[in-house]
Amino acid sequence: MPKLIPVITEEEIKEQISRVAKEISKDYEDKKLILIGVLKGSFIFTADLSRSLSIPNQVDFVGASSYGSNTSTSGEVTITKDVGLDLEGKHVLVLEDIVDTGLTLIRIIDYLKKFNPESVKICALLNKHERRTADITVDYECFAIPKGFLVGYGLDYAEDYRNLPAIFNLEE
Ligand code: IMP
Repeated sequence: MPKLIPVITEEEIKEQISRVAKEISKDYEDKKLILIGVLKGSFIFTADLSRSLSIPNQVDFVGASSYGSNTSTSGEVTITKDVGLDLEGKHVLVLEDIVDTGLTLIRIIDYLKKFNPESVKICALLNKHERRTADITVDYECFAIPKGFLVGYGLDYAEDYRNLPAIFNLEE
């Protein structure tokens, strides 16, 4: 039976989202901001961050699949849902649940840049530095974490646990 070890509480998630939302609201004041959540893991993070911003923002989602049902990346990332909003000349902030190797984000950023946005930046709920292989900068991060496989608050293992309100380490 897998064990769920608590790592980040609901309260801590709220605090960090509110801190990052203040920074983003200041940096994007008077700019047309579009949040792009990366499905499926960022659906809860996107909803909460969008509501925490004090500036107007539009929301869209992009679908990307990297992991199957196991816990290590294949390196092959496919876009499974296209963006619907017109990004031309807009400021895009990509919301990712967790950045691990960074390969998913590299692929998504390349894809989004084809639509000629004015800028593209990255906001991550969890930034797992240790296994980074791609050359990317996370512009806003809620939590820096070393390693482990995390679930809850949108993050899954084989599609389970996304509904948990806090974040847990999954131990086999
Ligand atoms: P990357 O391409 O290696 O950066 O992996 C990013 C994607 O892998 C995330 O969007 C998640 O879907 C998934 N992922 C990476 N680490 C974890 C984890 O600890 N728990 C759940 N999903 C993860």
